[in-house]
Amino acid sequence: MFNKVAVIGAGNVGATAAQRVAEKNLAREVIMIDVAEGIPQGKALDQWQSGPIEGFDARVRGSQGYDEAAGAELFIVTAGIARKPGMSRDDLVRTNAGIVRSVAENIARVAPRSIIIVVSNPLDVMCYVAMKASGFPRERVIGMAGVLDTARYRMFLAEALGMSVEDIQAMVLGGHGDTMVPLVSCTTVSGIQVTQLMPRTQLDAIVDRTRNGGAEIVAHLKTGSAYYAPSAAAVQMAEAIVLDKKRVLPCSAWLTGEYGLKDVFCGVPCLLGAGGLERILDVEISDDERKALHTSAEAVRSTQVTVDAL
Ligand code: LAC
Repeated sequence: MFNKVAVIGAGNVGATAAQRVAEKNLAREVIMIDVAEGIPQGKALDQWQSGPIEGFDARVRGSQGYDEAAGAELFIVTAGIARKPGMSRDDLVRTNAGIVRSVAENIARVAPRSIIIVVSNPLDVMCYVAMKASGFPRERVIGMAGVLDTARYRMFLAEALGMSVEDIQAMVLGGHGDTMVPLVSCTTVSGIQVTQLMPRTQLDAIVDRTRNGGAEIVAHLKTGSAYYAPSAAAVQMAEAIVLDKKRVLPCSAWLTGEYGLKDVFCGVPCLLGAGGLERILDVEISDDERKALHTSAEAVRSTQVTVDAL
């Protein structure tokens, strides 16, 4: 268990993530920080009061400032505006880059040895902003996208196959956007290649639905974007770090040559443990998948360069 985990942003994703961190007993203290006066305090107190029912002792506290988060070992950054229908994640870049930059500077000031999990969109580019503004090494700035995209993919597959989500193994790599790359070659049901269990056309439709998984929910909600699955995904990464589980999860990481890509954040298989990003698994994928991964990374890079100019 960590002493302190801080969640930046007390909106839907942040508040749900804080509750999940507390319920999983990942920290003695959970700090929720948000600029909106009273909101983090009220939500934190409400969550803390669920402790006797849910069985956790974590003190959940809310704050407008960062001093409460001093010395936190782990931050989950959800701050920023969410998408409205018709908006792409990249439409958020200008506003959220300013917010994430200031958040990362504050984190580096109050907790210079911490690990940051970025959730704000556009995800991969916000990781870049957070890494630059914090000055942290790549091991300590990791983006949540692949775990969410993979969960959506697994859920759609489970539904179509009439089989348990628990038995479906998969990886979605690439940037968190329309160019993401569900790895069909690595999709199995208890080790059986999924291509043996469903026709290729059906699989292609599921891959497509996965790519639009976030937008599908935005279209329903109209006033915001998904938060139950995104918070669950971020907290699965947090759990791997807090419990030093050495899990292999698809996360956005700063690449220094892996998969032939350099100086860009992109979703790749990552080993997560107490050290944060402990290793990137640079493994063989099909030529088509590699091509798609490069296209996706270049899409991230083109937005990444625009934030340098801001
Ligand atoms: C989604 C948003 C959070 O994929 O990016 O739902």
